[in-house]
Amino acid sequence: MPTATQTATAELRCFNPSCRAQYAISDVLYNCPACGELIEAAYSGLNHEPEALRRLFRDRRASNAPLDQSGVWRYRELSPFLSDYSRVVTLREGNTPLLDAPIAAEYGGLKSIAFKHQGFNPTGSFKDNGMTCGVAQARRLGMRRVACVSTGNTSASMAAYAAAAGIEALIFLPHGNISFGKLAQALEYGAKALEVEANFDQILALVRTLADRLGIYLLNSMNPFRIEGQKTIMFEMLDQRDWRVPDWVVLPGGNLGNVSAFGKGLREAKEAGLIDRLPRLALIQAEGSSPFYEFVRNGAREFHPLAKPETLATAIRIGDPVSWPKALNEIRSTDGVVEKVTEQEIADAKAIIGRCGIGCEPASAATLAGIRKLTAGGVIERGADVVAVLTGNVLKDPDYIYRYHTGKLEAPGGVKIRSTYGNQSIVVPNDADRIVEMLKG
Ligand code: F0G
Repeated sequence: MPTATQTATAELRCFNPSCRAQYAISDVLYNCPACGELIEAAYSGLNHEPEALRRLFRDRRASNAPLDQSGVWRYRELSPFLSDYSRVVTLREGNTPLLDAPIAAEYGGLKSIAFKHQGFNPTGSFKDNGMTCGVAQARRLGMRRVACVSTGNTSASMAAYAAAAGIEALIFLPHGNISFGKLAQALEYGAKALEVEANFDQILALVRTLADRLGIYLLNSMNPFRIEGQKTIMFEMLDQRDWRVPDWVVLPGGNLGNVSAFGKGLREAKEAGLIDRLPRLALIQAEGSSPFYEFVRNGAREFHPLAKPETLATAIRIGDPVSWPKALNEIRSTDGVVEKVTEQEIADAKAIIGRCGIGCEPASAATLAGIRKLTAGGVIERGADVVAVLTGNVLKDPDYIYRYHTGKLEAPGGVKIRSTYGNQSIVVPNDADRIVEMLKG
């Protein structure tokens, strides 16, 4: 079906409203050379007919073409930054379900809730949505090496997509603060893994220097093409709801790339006439790593990074989120809110999501913990139509799960986490009579 993609033009643009400098789409930029602000992909000439676009997206679900089977590239008319799709490596990312979860709804103070579970992705997190785009751009630029600093999921995802694309992957990790599930993935996919004795924020500064000196392409979320991929999570969610807009979209926040991507996607869906209003975004941070929450709540002019972020939800253990200016814009443009939750609240919410037969990693559970707080505070109404995004798979961090259920989980600083919804295994003798005795009735 002919679309307007062929006539659309793509460029990189400074995100700063008072700069808006423009650059070629094939420039290697993460920050504006003129003012230092973040960069974004921008398009002109996107004049699709909304109904035709909706039909095209729906028809592609029945297609066997790899590009159409991808839950990212299926929506390519809305991210037309490539001129040649032969460079794309897809592992069929996206295609993640919207799951009803009555037990979680009740716990969260809602009549109903739907989880958009990004843990169903090929490497088990939402990073795959962005990585397929980032790696496609790396190939277009002829890059031989890609790099990222990561709390785990970005590195697992980048390792997989780089391997599939035949590009060398260099990953930098905070030593001792990444779950083994995630590190194991990166090793299995053949990445060169460097564990640095520093935290995420410090390593990001280091990696930026190294990228310049070694000519490596950076695939952290300040890479604008990662954002282009992650915004499709909102397109797919809306498509799955026949473009009915929820009242709220709730997600966890760390480096703040995802909330920036969701906001951009939602605004662009509205501009394209696919939806007629925006849902409100609710961003949830872990209390010990919540500089953006403090910034928004205090209405501060200046953003103050947190030098020593802490949380057992290691995915979001970030004190100096690079994308905060974009995140602020998206929270404002969607009339959104930012909330913070404790370690205990995250752990209990996570167990409840498990009891729904769904499961997720700790950072993802911040969503339900945040919803419980926001309904209790009257910010979200009980009857509201809420989509919460679970960002990572339950198997990403089994150590956390085991410790919670056996009462051995300790928050940073040594505070014990109560095993409120604990479920321990029972050791039994190899004796049918004794086991029957135990289990009958
Ligand atoms: N949830 C999970 C499971 C994550 O891995 C991350 C970020 C987030 C939420 C927060 O998303 O940073 O866009 O606000 N993980 C990054 C990583 C930092 O390196 O894998 P964000």
